[in-house]
Amino acid sequence: MRTLIRHVLSRTEASADLQVAGWVRTRRDAKGFSFIELNDGSCLGNLQIVADAGISGFEEIGQMTVGASIHVQGCLTPSPAAGQRWELKASSLRLLGKSPEDYPLQKKGHSHEFLRSIGHLRPRTNLYGAMFRIRSRLAFAIHQFFQERDFFYIHTPILTTSDCEGAGEMFRVTTLPNDRMGHDAEDFFGKRAFLTVSGQLEGEAFATALSNIYTFGPTFRAENSNTSRHAAEFWMIEPEMAFCDLQGDMELAEAMINHLVKHALNHQDGDLEIFEKFIDPTLRTRLESVASQAFERISYTDAVRLLEKSGQAFHYPVSYGLNLQSEHERWLTEVYFKKPTTVFNYPKEIKPFYMRTNDDGRTVTAMDLLVPGIGEIIGGSQREERLDVLLGNMRHHHLDLDTYSWYADLRKYGSVPHAGFGLGFERLLMFVTGMPNIRDVIPFARTPGHCEF
Ligand code: 4AD
Ligand code: MG
Repeated sequence: MRTLIRHVLSRTEASADLQVAGWVRTRRDAKGFSFIELNDGSCLGNLQIVADAGISGFEEIGQMTVGASIHVQGCLTPSPAAGQRWELKASSLRLLGKSPEDYPLQKKGHSHEFLRSIGHLRPRTNLYGAMFRIRSRLAFAIHQFFQERDFFYIHTPILTTSDCEGAGEMFRVTTLPNDRMGHDAEDFFGKRAFLTVSGQLEGEAFATALSNIYTFGPTFRAENSNTSRHAAEFWMIEPEMAFCDLQGDMELAEAMINHLVKHALNHQDGDLEIFEKFIDPTLRTRLESVASQAFERISYTDAVRLLEKSGQAFHYPVSYGLNLQSEHERWLTEVYFKKPTTVFNYPKEIKPFYMRTNDDGRTVTAMDLLVPGIGEIIGGSQREERLDVLLGNMRHHHLDLDTYSWYADLRKYGSVPHAGFGLGFERLLMFVTGMPNIRDVIPFARTPGHCEF
């Protein structure tokens, strides 16, 4: 049975007989033997293989070039070399798959742009292997956070007829042939359907039945914004809590970010260190400071006041009633508060129909959690639970009342105060690793003009 290199490297005892398999990172030939650095992706570290001429399979050593896959059997012994505990003295080698000279990862130090163009091979590099192991661990930590708090995981649909955010940025899904476009009744579902921009509305149906739920799935937005923080396909975590107000919502959002940052700091296996070394030297200090102090909270009105008197020359204007831009969010978190900050109670006009109107009639119980280096990472709100107010909002936003009648029913029958939010999983990964571009934290990025692989 093959042992993962991750388990080999953490062994406390030598072993007379071990089998490993992986891809050759480097090979050095000396007189009468060869050294191979082998990596199987189970961890950042390589296992050094020492192969003496004459062992079974050594005749193929010339083909065990960078990128080739091999199987090795041997004896694990303490390594005399500095910086590594073990090496495997091979008793037999087997070439599984050759790797010709045009293997693109021969040398180290490729640009992120180039590696994006070979997205099918980039997980074989140290940095991207670490990235996607961290991604997997944080996905697990998210489930752990919610399951420990008795939230139920709900699978909300990917195909939908609702536009949760009301921004009209939806990908349409159709099976109509070109010459029947526009004949919606003939379409697959008998009406127009789209890829979901959010599982929230369906999530609310389950929160108003099971109390506390969360979703964790892919979401799609056809927004033509070519920024380093927007993807057309991204993963979102959306908790929703019945009998909860804005205060409880902000508390959950802060506790969740705190839990995830701590999880990343505590389960590193060297993966986080590589980001500190090559991407952001301040990473660990930054994450530790986030994990150890309370976040800031400020109302939208006060945040706008601060920005107006900041004396800072912003590219986009700041004034009450306008959306905060990323540069404003970053000034608040990086320059002014120097910590994650939740901005709450935004003007009604710039937020979606489902947010609860405050007593002032002008603002809604919205909240955005902003972090240094990125800006908005979470967006959420308390939901409008009053049927008449909700219907008024829907009319104001020109929503089709028939399409959303099921959503209104949640208020008609046993309505309760409830609240939730959405965390962008890729933005979280950017924050935790310091990677500056969303294209580099998702296995295969989909952005305007790009849908490769
Ligand atoms: O603020 P948003 O649009 O909120 C919602 O979708 C709500 N329905 C969530 C809820 O209350 N249940 O999106 C939530 C988060 C943002 O804060 C951001 O982190 C991420 O989703 N996000 C994106 N991430 C990558 N690419 C994009 N195009 C994104 N749009 C939003
Ligand atoms: Mg938002």
